[in-house]
Amino acid sequence: MRPTDPPRTYRVKSFGCQMNVYDGERMAELLGAQGMTAAGEGDKADLVVLNTCHIREKATEKVYSDIGRIVKDWDRDDGSSPMIAVAGCVAQAEGEEIMARAPSVKVVVGPQAYHRLPEMVAEAAAGRRATETDMPAEAKFAALPRRRKTGPSAFLTIQEGCDKFCTYCVVPYTRGAELSRPFADLVDEARLLVEGGAREITLLGQNVNAWAGEDAKGRAVGLAGLAEALAGLADLKRIRYTTSHPADMDEALIAAHGTNAKLMPFLHLPVQAGSDRVLKAMNRSHTADGYLKLLERFRAARPDIALSGDFIVGFPGETDAEFEDTLRLIDAVGYAQAFSFKYSARPGTPAASMDGQVPASVMDERLQRLQAALGRDQLAFNKASVGKTCEVLVERKGKHPGQWLGKSPWLQSVHFTGEAAIGDLVLVELVEAGPNSLSARLAPRDQA
Ligand code: 5AD
Ligand code: SF4
Repeated sequence: MRPTDPPRTYRVKSFGCQMNVYDGERMAELLGAQGMTAAGEGDKADLVVLNTCHIREKATEKVYSDIGRIVKDWDRDDGSSPMIAVAGCVAQAEGEEIMARAPSVKVVVGPQAYHRLPEMVAEAAAGRRATETDMPAEAKFAALPRRRKTGPSAFLTIQEGCDKFCTYCVVPYTRGAELSRPFADLVDEARLLVEGGAREITLLGQNVNAWAGEDAKGRAVGLAGLAEALAGLADLKRIRYTTSHPADMDEALIAAHGTNAKLMPFLHLPVQAGSDRVLKAMNRSHTADGYLKLLERFRAARPDIALSGDFIVGFPGETDAEFEDTLRLIDAVGYAQAFSFKYSARPGTPAASMDGQVPASVMDERLQRLQAALGRDQLAFNKASVGKTCEVLVERKGKHPGQWLGKSPWLQSVHFTGEAAIGDLVLVELVEAGPNSLSARLAPRDQA
């Protein structure tokens, strides 16, 4: 590919959260609509889009090392070079620096501007490097092409951005202010996803439960109302949503877990820490006790609900005793799964300049203890599921002949052998539990 040749093949590599996965799919659709084709497995693409994550520092370093590797691996001996586009949150936060530091990067496009990717690629092919980091996202969604074929489990971004400004977090700066996509657009996109093969849709948002809109009759609705409308799509069998914020939770959503049969019994509700002092310093706007009481209300509506959370260890000033509060909260909840991270100072966030930055060795030790506790609870949750009969949505083939992989209602990975096909909802009995997955056998048909 000489500099003036427009790229013919592309690869989109997404890092970080599920919203980036969704964005990556939409970018691929945009490039496909321009007549470009996805590079085959192992083939070198003319255009590589790195759809990046900025939430913790290692992710940024990874972008630079990925750029280096793509350039090094490009072994066409015709004097050409790959076209690299950096998208996502690192592009938004550090676009200028990337352009200055990495001459092989020809396009920098932020998460709210990627609908412009095809024209920017064309500009770059004509020899002009292009940067676009405009916000907010309204124009983007309006400019995206129609959805095409999808797997059985699909993502749908319904809300973007964040107004919460937790003091450690870059998201309000990289994704911008909270924005809800219109109800009708979402019902349309969900219908297209279902027509394209989706049996499960996970509704995405940085604060997905802050989504608000007006239904077809002009009534104000929240996430529960949207989930109810989507449940009306006959071939859609499962609805999930992530990530929620405790401050945006409303009674309607809690109640929906008891009444909307398609809403899966799973809640990802980050808490970050168990100490009220730390939570305040994080600007989380909830206490540990408030969080626990909220979970109790979910459990009252849906007793088998599986709980998940996010945790940060080593927030500036966190003492040993405060860290113990987090362990106590974990014991009180009994999470089915959770994500945990060492605090990472992000440029421009208030916490980055707070006193009492915690040494790396202390963070390492706290993370190990936290993950041991979470691992113990995850295994306990999985073991308690053994003997249950439940539906599994089959997502792909397993490693062994005749083996299938899918998810339980509680988002556990389940494998089984027998007659099934991708996209089926099959009834199984869970027979054995490990820390990260369960094995199952097909339940006799008369139970179906
Ligand atoms: N350092 C460590 N973890 C962070 N998260 C967000 N910002 C940071 C940071 N600066 C974690 C939070 C959030 C998840 C998506 O990432 O736990 O819920
Ligand atoms: Fe970041 Fe807090 Fe917003 Fe979540 S709620 S995206 S952690 S600022």
